[in-house]
Amino acid sequence: MGADVIVGAQFGDEGKGKIVDTLVHRNNYEIVVRYNGGANAGHTVIFDGKTFKLHLVPSGIFKHGTICILGTGTVIDPVALVKEIADLEAAGVDVSGFRISNRAHLILPWHMILDKARECERDARAAESKSATTAIGTTGRGIGPCYETKAARIGIRMGDLKDDVVTTFLAKLDSMYRHFLHDLHLGEITLKRFNLPKLPEPDAVFRDILIAKNIGRFITDTDELTRAAWRSGKKILLEGAQATHLDIECGTYPFVSSSHATSAGACVGSGLPPTAIENVFAVAKAYTTRVGNGPFLTEQETEIGNLLRDRGHEFGTTTGRPRRCGWFDADLVRRACEINGAQKLIVTKLDVLTGLDEILLSTGCDAMGHPVYERFKGWDKLLTAVRVWNDLPHEAQKYLSRIEELSGARLAGVAIGPSREQIIWLD
Ligand code: IMP
Repeated sequence: MGADVIVGAQFGDEGKGKIVDTLVHRNNYEIVVRYNGGANAGHTVIFDGKTFKLHLVPSGIFKHGTICILGTGTVIDPVALVKEIADLEAAGVDVSGFRISNRAHLILPWHMILDKARECERDARAAESKSATTAIGTTGRGIGPCYETKAARIGIRMGDLKDDVVTTFLAKLDSMYRHFLHDLHLGEITLKRFNLPKLPEPDAVFRDILIAKNIGRFITDTDELTRAAWRSGKKILLEGAQATHLDIECGTYPFVSSSHATSAGACVGSGLPPTAIENVFAVAKAYTTRVGNGPFLTEQETEIGNLLRDRGHEFGTTTGRPRRCGWFDADLVRRACEINGAQKLIVTKLDVLTGLDEILLSTGCDAMGHPVYERFKGWDKLLTAVRVWNDLPHEAQKYLSRIEELSGARLAGVAIGPSREQIIWLD
């Protein structure tokens, strides 16, 4: 049996967390592996009237007996993770199936300070020269700097937390501290200028990390565990964070995150070979949103953009920032389906479009780089209780069928509300 992948087809926040939670219950996956990113992601899962906001732990944790893994490709703030696990346990969620890769890298306070300092510096430079900022609009969670120390081969891995030799661990911390202090010129002056804290000394970082020692019980060789599960025919779901167009290779560089968010990244980030992948599900919102800077062809800085933001509650789960909103960009999603080899497309938040007189969908650009729109008639029927395709208004069916046609993937599901039950399956 092969593994299935869930991947974002736009700029993130497509509702992947809800889809993972729903699919785990529908398809009975036994293992869920999150394969990239860190606490920059935010997943909201709603069931039994309760709302859970997750940043690190895979959404599969809500199905009893599922093994939920933070894979090799992820980067982990141990202090944030301890809190997330404590919150889940306090809500009565069984976390005994949770596992962390011994190869995943630790995000330390230094990574977060550098992330913020760089963004402030870019904004300040733009203000001085009265030009547009080159800031990426990161989540400030230290994601980019952590992948940098990983690539520079001075990173500290989760497996190191289990290391009983304190001196070895402290030596690693010390070497990374010197890297930040000297190589990256993160002197006090820069930090003071932007009101950022002084870099904590390695001893202080070590003391903070000690509270994370109790997550040692979850750390293991998850690559081996996942491959063994695959060999024995277990059902595996690989959960991507962020999205195709935020991927470090395929995204709108430099306005991207620093990980491999696509289905290709699902292999390196989970330890499975490419031949293990069976189904790839691309997830796209019925319109487009983006948080942070970077190109956005169909952005609506108008009343319609505000309306989508209000109705869709388009504020970042991690940072609370308002998301930029606009019409569906079919070419963006088509490219995502192609890059990821997605055979199946799941469209989310269709209900947000209810009540609009007219809905626009971009099929590409004209010679001037402006979007070329097709126009669709809207519908008034409330969709939240719809469970089968035939009960969707004819206008909604027409809009979705056109999205399916342009995407090159088969429409497999349509989400019409935030809770687990609010989804129409087409297969
Ligand atoms: P970073 O991942 O914090 O370095 O941020 C890089 C870019 O990716 C910024 O534009 C962020 O707003 C965006 N980003 C990171 N994670 C997410 C996410 O989970 N959803 C949407 N955008 C994200």
